[in-house]
Amino acid sequence: MRKKIVAGNWKMNKLYSEAVELVDEITIALKDDTKSDEIVKVLIPSFPYLRKVARHSHGIPNLFTGAQNCAYEEAGAYTGEVSAGMIKSLGGTYVIIGHSERRSYFHETNEELKRKVNIVLGQSLTPIFCIGESHEKRHAKEHFAVVEKQISDSLFHLIAADFKKVVLAYEPVWAIGTGLTATSQQAQEMHLFIRTLVEKKYGKEVATSLSILYGGSCNSKNATELFACPDVDGGLIGGASLTAKDFVTIIHSFPS
Ligand code: PGA
Repeated sequence: MRKKIVAGNWKMNKLYSEAVELVDEITIALKDDTKSDEIVKVLIPSFPYLRKVARHSHGIPNLFTGAQNCAYEEAGAYTGEVSAGMIKSLGGTYVIIGHSERRSYFHETNEELKRKVNIVLGQSLTPIFCIGESHEKRHAKEHFAVVEKQISDSLFHLIAADFKKVVLAYEPVWAIGTGLTATSQQAQEMHLFIRTLVEKKYGKEVATSLSILYGGSCNSKNATELFACPDVDGGLIGGASLTAKDFVTIIHSFPS
């Protein structure tokens, strides 16, 4: 059985005291919540809070900490960058790579993202690799081609044993932070396309074990419908992960 995962991408939100308050509220809610023990939960704050969030999360089953980005080099003279090794040393386990905000505002290319994937896997961290098309590309019916290229350019150099360590997040750009969610049919169609693509490259066993998350205005109201899709294995949650109540409700949204 592949992992069910709910990851909260806090983006550039929360001051330190607010971040501590949020992680406290989430951990209190999850402490005696045995029914979500099997679900992998990932809190992804800004870099300066990683250590604190990791420490506060300690002891809750399957609760991990992640980073929103990392450098594509291991170490050295790269002012302002944060390495995968540093993330690991602070207690991080997951790293988002290729979020659409990084691709568009910071002009990250498929080639750079490939290097980041290698660096993250080299530290035995888990990449949450984001893919997704713009509104224009969907309108032009090029969404499958865009996603296929993002995956093949940045991930298909991996050997199967390494690809198995990757989590994918399908996040249509037009749905991120806009309140426009993909319908469950649109999400399922793309997730199945991705799984089939992976199966062609790596075989059935790898494709079946791959967790593919949906992201883009996923919230406490629509998560149940999205998570009921057979190829949707959880969510990468932005706005709705900033409130403990909503985040925990989303964790509870998998079919039983
Ligand atoms: P959103 O963000 O849930 O606020 O749309 C999702 C994401 O960007 O990961």
